Amino acid sequence: MATDPVCIEDFKQIAEAKLSKYVREYYNSGANYEDTYRDNTDAFGRYKIRPKYMRDVSNRSMATTILGQRVDCPIGVSSVAMCRLAHPEGEVAVARACARLGRCFTLSTSATTGLEEIGEKVPDCLRWFQIHILSDRNMLTRLVRKAEDAGFSALALTVDSHVHGRRHAEMRNHFTLPAPYKLGVLEGLKSRDGMSNEEREGGWSKFVNKLFSSSATWDDLRWLKTITKLPVIAKGIVTGEGAREAVEAGADAVWVSNHGGRELDCVPATMDALREVVEAVGDRCEVYLDGGVRSGLDALKAIAMGARAVFVGRPILWGLAHTGGEGAEKVLQILGDELNTGMALAGASKISDISRDMVVHKSYYSSKL
Ligand SMILES: Cc1cc2nc3c(=O)[nH]c(=O)nc-3n(C[C@H](O)[C@H](O)[C@H](O)COP(=O)(O)O)c2cc1C
Repeated sequence: MATDPVCIEDFKQIAEAKLSKYVREYYNSGANYEDTYRDNTDAFGRYKIRPKYMRDVSNRSMATTILGQRVDCPIGVSSVAMCRLAHPEGEVAVARACARLGRCFTLSTSATTGLEEIGEKVPDCLRWFQIHILSDRNMLTRLVRKAEDAGFSALALTVDSHVHGRRHAEMRNHFTLPAPYKLGVLEGLKSRDGMSNEEREGGWSKFVNKLFSSSATWDDLRWLKTITKLPVIAKGIVTGEGAREAVEAGADAVWVSNHGGRELDCVPATMDALREVVEAVGDRCEVYLDGGVRSGLDALKAIAMGARAVFVGRPILWGLAHTGGEGAEKVLQILGDELNTGMALAGASKISDISRDMVVHKSYYSSKL
């Protein structure tokens, strides 16, 4: 096993050896028989890069904007719950890594660190807050206010997890948030620790099924737009119809995601879903993608297919498990270096040079046989 990781797979192997079975299986599993979980990573292998050689790529930049804000590289961090289970520094360490590298950080509603703590400790980080439509809409309003006050610049509304997915590993392990960790975002709002002892004992699945509303509709997104000026991103879109509905309800951007294969199994891999989503929204808004991104070349492929930015979930947890903030930063650094080298070799000096004709589905080649 690599001790000095050079790619995301190295981080995964090291993290798998370091984490307890309980935490590892919470992080590294998907729903049901994990069809979508596996397919997310496999899908990238179905797309091939068509390079443009003999271009001057001596002066390169990965800088771009998302929702009008500059990032040094369009590979950001998805909202992942409970980062402190990977390393005590948790979400603060990840936000610091993002700030240092000019990346976008997304804080989960189920984070083990509060909105205020991120705002105070990492004020220079471009940060988004991931929300759910909560059963208690008043609590959601209070959360939105806290996010605004703590300098979060967008809300990512997760639309694909109104009911907790059937994750076999979580069920077998009777997974719950282990003590002494707290749900930092919900601390004080729901109960002293965000999750009471009784709720912990009842298990994670029961807890979130009560917290998140299963009656949410696009009207809730419309309502959300009336209570905040922050842009709202619809996270969890895997169909063109879903993307159109989100935009019609007022979404400012669409995030192609299937929750890393943890919610509804057997939905398409995000890389496969990207094309129809991009076609459905046209130039009405930006499209992001997460799910299975494990290299800078995956990012290059998604960008060529129309994603404005990509995000990673589990790789950050593996980086944290490796060496805390340093590991998380190294994960982001490696992904950026891979994108940079990939751009150079494919003939792109800047992000806007990564063009649609640079990537094809591999069936393009078999159809020529
Ligand atoms: C352990 C774990 C916890 C997650 N928690 C949340 C969450 O609280 N809210 C959310 O919208 N997505 C959550 N996700 C989904 C991620 O935001 C993201 O969509 C997914 O991890 C991307 O896939 P990847 O892990 O293959 O990069 C979680 C994913 C993992 C692995």
